[in-house]
Amino acid sequence: MSKQFENKVAVTTGSASGMGKQTAIEFAKQGAKVVIADWADGTDTVNAIKALGGEALYVKCDVSKEADVKNVIDTAVATFGSVDFGFNNAGVELGGFPLEQTSVEEFDKVVGINLRGVFLCIKYEAIQMLKQGKGVIVNTASAAGLVGVPSLSAYTASKHGIVGLTKTAALDFGKRGIRINTVCPGAIRTPMLEDTMKNSAAAKEQIEASQILGRIGEPQEIADAVIWLCSDASSFVNGVSLPVDGGWVAQ
Ligand SMILES: NC(=O)c1ccc[n+]([C@@H]2O[C@H](COP(=O)([O-])OP(=O)(O)OC[C@H]3O[C@@H](n4cnc5c(N)ncnc54)[C@H](O)[C@@H]3O)[C@@H](O)[C@H]2O)c1
Repeated sequence: MSKQFENKVAVTTGSASGMGKQTAIEFAKQGAKVVIADWADGTDTVNAIKALGGEALYVKCDVSKEADVKNVIDTAVATFGSVDFGFNNAGVELGGFPLEQTSVEEFDKVVGINLRGVFLCIKYEAIQMLKQGKGVIVNTASAAGLVGVPSLSAYTASKHGIVGLTKTAALDFGKRGIRINTVCPGAIRTPMLEDTMKNSAAAKEQIEASQILGRIGEPQEIADAVIWLCSDASSFVNGVSLPVDGGWVAQ
């Protein structure tokens, strides 16, 4: 049986770890060739995909740097011939202090990676997809892109920015063959969340107690949402920021 993403190419950022890694593997399971773009070593993800019989390539990239992002897209096209899907997922979570104790350096770093990084990825993916006449983009924001989170001002601002970018990009590209949506994960069991819970017993208790389904989410549950948003099954879904949070933002 043919796979739904056969002969397609997926560029994924932040895919050396966590939900990005799981989603990259899922793209490969659906038949796509996958570019693993991360500033950390993505060899593990590439090897996991090759073990499944898939094709993948690691490109070192800091998503906050324009030349790095352009190089990822150029390398994807030179190696695999197109960019059919962009999954813009790389991000950092710094914080844990009220806004008045947040430094300008921390604010600029978080916004530079989480928001400018997604902007740059959308821009260079779209330039390629407009040449092709089609493509689908999915960004990772957060439940913190939809509601305020105390002591996480830079992160929350950066993730709200992604929700805004998604709306404008959907309007800019809608009649030119590109769909764009965003996933807004709640608490998902990845190294990022594990670090947060390890560093603060209070945060761990609060995160566990506030889960509406009584459990933390798994990376596969984000991968499944991203694959659906890239597939023809969501062909009329555009400009949406979809909570995948077990109901957390319904509170
Ligand atoms: N885990 C959660 O509970 C949760 C909740 C909401 C949103 N998110 C978001 O999900 C995304 C993935 O996070 P995760 O939980 O899988 O964390 P993770 O730390 O396991 O993975 C993040 C990946 O992004 C990469 N990265 C960070 N900065 C980068 C940069 N400048 N350039 C290139 N790569 C960079 C890291 O090296 C890492 O591989 C992030 O955008 C994060 O903000 C996570």
